[in-house]
Amino acid sequence: MKKAEIITDKHFLVSEVDKRIYGSFIEHLGRAVYEGIYQPGSPFADEQGLRKDVIELVRELQVPVVRYPGGNFVSGYHWEDGVGPKAERPSKVDLAWQVIETNEFGLNEFATWAKKANSDVMMAVNLGTRGAEDAKNILEYCNFKEGTYYSDLRKQHGYKDPHNIKLWCLGNEMDGPWQMGHKTAQEYGRAAEETGRLMKMMDPSIETVACGSSNLDMPTFGTWEDTVLGICYDQVDYLSLHQYYGNRDNDTPDFLASSVGMDEFISSVVSICDCVKAKRRSKKKINLSFDEWNVWYHSNEADEKLEKWVKAPHQLEDIYNFEDALLVGSMLITLLRHADRVKIGCLAQLVNVIAPIMTSDTGAWRQTIFYPFRYTSQYGRGTVLHTVIKSPVYESKTYGTAPYLDGVLVWNEAEEELVLFAVNKCLEEDMEITCDLRQFEKFQIEEHVVLSHQDMKAVNTEKNPGEVSPTAGNTVKLEAGKLSGILGKHSWNMVRMKRK
Ligand code: AHR
Repeated sequence: MKKAEIITDKHFLVSEVDKRIYGSFIEHLGRAVYEGIYQPGSPFADEQGLRKDVIELVRELQVPVVRYPGGNFVSGYHWEDGVGPKAERPSKVDLAWQVIETNEFGLNEFATWAKKANSDVMMAVNLGTRGAEDAKNILEYCNFKEGTYYSDLRKQHGYKDPHNIKLWCLGNEMDGPWQMGHKTAQEYGRAAEETGRLMKMMDPSIETVACGSSNLDMPTFGTWEDTVLGICYDQVDYLSLHQYYGNRDNDTPDFLASSVGMDEFISSVVSICDCVKAKRRSKKKINLSFDEWNVWYHSNEADEKLEKWVKAPHQLEDIYNFEDALLVGSMLITLLRHADRVKIGCLAQLVNVIAPIMTSDTGAWRQTIFYPFRYTSQYGRGTVLHTVIKSPVYESKTYGTAPYLDGVLVWNEAEEELVLFAVNKCLEEDMEITCDLRQFEKFQIEEHVVLSHQDMKAVNTEKNPGEVSPTAGNTVKLEAGKLSGILGKHSWNMVRMKRK
């Protein structure tokens, strides 16, 4: 059996958790919108065509903010096509995903859906084929009270009150050659600066997110962030990060070490933000919006064979297995460990498209990755404690040295609750853990939730939705201020402790 020690101190705080790190993402892509959150005529739909079963599951996940409408889609999007009387909305080609977009669902419907799902909207503007003028117009439509062309148009469309959207992405992955209207760092920096400036002139209460690199492997990574921020620093509040992982070589230890890569990615971007801050002698700190992260690879091959120019095809429909859930749990721990700088995170995406929730005409079900997200989102609120993990390590092919045990402690002072999230990545052996918690007097274990399965490739399907699901653990105890016990091999764990 392997052994690890968890060391913490209640005075050593990383930061309060910004609940927006538990955000997600709905793009006009595949069946995320159509048949996902919106399916008029379905027995599950409400009077507005919104799927109630999906809303229930999104509420269970407790997603405070949802990014919309893209993604690559937004870089060719005309938001005006998706507002007003449905019968008059034009069908358009979506070049990003080579499909037909009917525009039957648009920003007003999304704002309505988000309210029902207990989420706020994080809106992205098109800086691909459009620019600052259009961004100003959509903001006027969404947030201006009345008495102007676009605010009155919104009222005319039946939305008397402004949507009051506070978080705005200035484009999407603008460094990527696949992106409509992609730009050099210089060009994008200027576009983001002007767009951010005009938008904040209109509504100074909003926050803006500039595009960082599309992923860590982009050849321009680093210089992109440096140049872009060097230009638009004063007009933006956050810089975005995107990263997806996959187990393409069926090397599970390497795959599970991806969170080490994510950790280094975050640290690198923080360094660049702070370097630009220092060069400008600025008092302002740029925080991070990790607004696309997940596992994405299962559907790659199938997507290559899809028919083009159809409506809402089965695109990017990854069926997640148990090991994906372990990594998602570990990535959430990584986001928490960086709570001082990562203020927004979006699990990409939310329904049907690389998603924790799947739908069919006969129901909706939870994929494996649903569970670590659900528990971390519900109980990972409060303040992250600096958590030192003294764990045995292994050498991974891609990410170098990786600890077998990943973990973090979150202290919710108001609820008098201390929560440990931990993943034992060892495939062969259980992990014996100890943690001195004498500072947390009178705390007792409230629950130990375990996600484990003997088959790393086990999946949840519509016919068998409960194959991978959490169970109650009983292998950990808290006695005389010492937490000790066993975390099973390849398992995700949440140990929730409460003051009695
Ligand atoms: O989430 C799927 C796609 O991944 C998004 O549209 C894009 O931003 C990223 O490349």
